[in-house]
This record gives sequence, structure tokens and C-alpha cells, in this order.
Amino acid sequence: MENIGRQRPIGVFDSGIGGLTNVRALMERLPMENIIYFGDTARVPYGTKSKATIENFSMQIVDFLLEHDVKAMVIACNTIAAVAGQKIRQKTGNMPVLDVISAGAKAALATTRNNKIGIIATNTTVNSNAYARAIHRDNPDTLVRTQAAPLLVPLVEEGWLEHEVTRLTVCEYLKPLLADGIDTLVLGCTHFPLLKPLIGREAHNVALVDSAITTAEETARVLAQEGLLNTDNNNPDYRFYVSDIPLKFRTIGEHFLGRTMEQIEMVSLG
Ligand code: DGL
Repeated sequence: MENIGRQRPIGVFDSGIGGLTNVRALMERLPMENIIYFGDTARVPYGTKSKATIENFSMQIVDFLLEHDVKAMVIACNTIAAVAGQKIRQKTGNMPVLDVISAGAKAALATTRNNKIGIIATNTTVNSNAYARAIHRDNPDTLVRTQAAPLLVPLVEEGWLEHEVTRLTVCEYLKPLLADGIDTLVLGCTHFPLLKPLIGREAHNVALVDSAITTAEETARVLAQEGLLNTDNNNPDYRFYVSDIPLKFRTIGEHFLGRTMEQIEMVSLG
């Protein structure tokens, strides 16, 4: 019985395909886990939508994952974590629910030396103040500077990871944060880890926190603590569900995932 519980998949979800950066980190950190991914590609972006709409969409996704008997959930989308995290946890009860904001905030605090942390994220995440709240819960004296960086989302989806337009956009967004002397920058959006090399060059004395990696670490820790780690599975099952399969979906998705995607299925929610 216990073994069956451990074999159940981890449910990972996002507003679109950016959350595949989290799946990639989970596959590397926890290679024996089965994973079900849901990306709401028909309704992305969430980063410009209201809290009520995001909560409503998120509840539909959570229902879908519960129907698939997941043992834990990972909220891969910063925007969902920022405005709907609490509601999701109320619904899932005792099930472990990990999210990119809690993990990213912890990692940023562990990284900073001068106690000045910058965050780049979508408009909705920035407006929610969720990162600052999570950081100040552990250390109220930390200076947290947030910057909405919405233009980076379509630039990443276009694959312009090293393009001059992207570089100039990054510079513009980073200017106020660098002027405030941050030594740590949280990549607070699913898409931004793909810009790590470029951002690293433009902010060369700043440590970058990739929330996908820290969330995978936290997931491993919590699953072990709850006795839910899958330790007997050399052939893990990965399933990808999306609400739409737009043009270029596979190409962009495989960019985020870093490998080919088998088993993509379309489902409509709501
Ligand atoms: N997944 C979103 C995030 O991490 C970015 C894309 C969107 O706006 O939906 O905030």
C-alpha cells in the first residue's frame, strides 16, 4: 500500500509551458519520480490577469491533477503561487504543495551577503508583493526591490535568448535594481531561467537564484520527510497535458524541457 503511494506522480502546473523548466529540474533531481504536467496554454498569460480569474483557473487545474491521483503538487508558475497559493493549499489539505516563491525566497536569503535582494517577475507577481512578504517573514530587515519585467516573457517564447533586443530590455529592467546595490537576483518567472547566461553577463557581480532548481530541492526534501520518495522506478512516466497545442508548441516546449516531449495530450478545463 505504502509503495503504491510512492509510485503516484507529482503534479506540476503552470499557466503555459514555462513551467517545463521546473519539470526539467525535477527530472534531474528526482529521476525516479513519475510526473504529470499541466500547462494552460489556451489561457496563458496569467501574469496580466486578475486574482479572481487566476484563482478560478488554478482551481480547475488542481481538480484535474487530483483526478490523476497525484501525491504532491508543484506550483511552477510564480504568478499562480503569488495570488492563488493559499486557496490551492486550502483545497489540497495535507498533500505537500511546493511552490516557486517559497523556495525562491528561502534560496535568496541563503545567498545574499549584503541583505539586498532583487526580484524580476510578471506584473501580477510584482503587484501581489508575495516575494517581499515571503522574504520578510524570515528576515524583516532585508531590502527587497521588485521589478516587473513582462517583455521578457514573449522574448523568451520567441527564442531570443541571446538577441540584442533582449539584452537591451534586460539592461533597462535591471538598472534600478543594480542602482540599489542588490547582490542577489531572483528569476521570479518560469521563463527567466532560460536567460541566465545573458542576465549573468549584464549583472556580473550578482548571484542569480533559479527558482526551478531550488523548488526541485525543496520537493526532494519534503517528499523524503513525508515518506513519499519514489526509490524504486527506473522507468519513470512523464505525461504532458495542455489546454491548447499552438504552433511551435513542441519546439518551444522542448527548449524549456531540454529534451523531447512524448505523450502530449490536449484537455479542456472549465
Ligand atoms: N508562468 C508565469 C510566471 O511564472 C509567466 C507566464 C504568464 O504570465 O502566465 O509568472
